[in-house]
Amino acid sequence: MKSSKVISMVVAVCFGLVMAGVAMATDKGPETITMDSKVFAKHKKSLVIFNHAKHNVDYKIACTECHHVYKDGKNVWKEGDAVQKCDACHTGAKAPKEPKLSKEEQIKGYMYSAIHENCKSCHKAAKKEGKAAPTKCTECHPKAAK
Ligand code: HEC
Ligand code: HEC
Ligand code: HEC
Ligand code: HEC
Repeated sequence: MKSSKVISMVVAVCFGLVMAGVAMATDKGPETITMDSKVFAKHKKSLVIFNHAKHNVDYKIACTECHHVYKDGKNVWKEGDAVQKCDACHTGAKAPKEPKLSKEEQIKGYMYSAIHENCKSCHKAAKKEGKAAPTKCTECHPKAAK
C-alpha cells in the first residue's frame, strides 16, 4: 500500500471519530422524522415527513419553540437535555367531542391538538410574513392513508 494512501486512511478515520464525538456531544435530533405516533391506533391521513434539520438550521428556529418541559408554568428545557417524544406527555390521541374541553385542555392532553397547535400556529404567522409554510391539510398530509 502506498504511504499516501495510508495517510489518507488515517486522516479519514480521525475525521470520523471527531464527527462521532461532535454528534454525541450535542444531539441535534434526526435530519428528518416520519411522524408516526403510536397514540393513533390507525392513521387516517398520510404520514407527515417533518424536516427537522431544515427547521433548526435553515429556518433558524430555536429548539425551545418545539421542545419543552414545564415547571411552574415555565419552560425549563434547555439544549443538551434529553428529548422526549411529544406523546410521552400529550398522551391522548384526539379529544372527545363530549365533554367539550377547553383549547388548553385539548392541547395538554391530546397529541392531535398539541402537534397541530405547534406546527400550524407558527406556520400561520410565517405565512403572513410571506414564507412558504404549509397550513392546509393536504400540504402536510399529501393524500389519505392506505
Ligand atoms: C419546529 C419544531 C422543532 C424544532 C425547532 C426542534 N425540534 Fe427536535 N423534534 C421536533 C419534533 C416534532 C420531533 C419528533 C417528536 C416525536 O416524534 O414525538 C423532534 C425530535 C427530536 C429529537 C429525537 C427525539 C426522539 O426520541 O425521537 C431530538 C434529539 C431533538 N428533536 C432535538 C432537538 C434540538 C437539540 C433542537 C434545537 C437544535 C430541536 N430538536 C429543534 C420538533 C422540533
Ligand atoms: C403543518 C402540518 C400539518 C397540517 C397543516 C395539518 N396536519 Fe394533521 N398532523 C400533522 C402531524 C405532524 C401529525 C402527527 C402525526 C403523528 O405523529 O402520527 C398530524 C396528525 C393528524 C391526524 C392524526 C393521525 C391520523 O393520520 O389519523 C389527523 C386525523 C390529521 N392530522 C388531520 C389533519 C387535518 C384534517 C388537517 C387540516 C384541517 C391537518 N391534519 C393539517 C401535521 C399537519
Ligand atoms: C415532558 C412533557 C411534555 C413533552 C415531552 C411535550 N410537551 Fe407539550 N406541553 C406539556 C405541558 C404540561 C403543557 C401545558 C403547559 C401549560 O400548562 O402551560 C404543554 C403545552 C404544549 C403546547 C401549548 C403551549 C406551548 O408551549 O406552545 C403545545 C403547542 C405543545 N405542548 C406541543 C408539544 C409538542 C409538539 C411536543 C413534541 C415536540 C411536546 N409538546 C412535548 C408537556 C409536554
Ligand atoms: C416556530 C415556527 C415553526 C414551527 C413550530 C414549525 N414550522 Fe414548519 N415551517 C416554518 C417556516 C418558517 C417554514 C417555511 C420556511 C421557508 O420556506 O422560508 C416552514 C416550512 C415547513 C414545511 C415545508 C418545507 C419543508 O421544510 O419541508 C413543512 C412540510 C413543515 N414546515 C412542517 C412542519 C411540521 C410538521 C411542524 C410541526 C411538527 C412544523 N413544521 C413546525 C416554521 C415552523
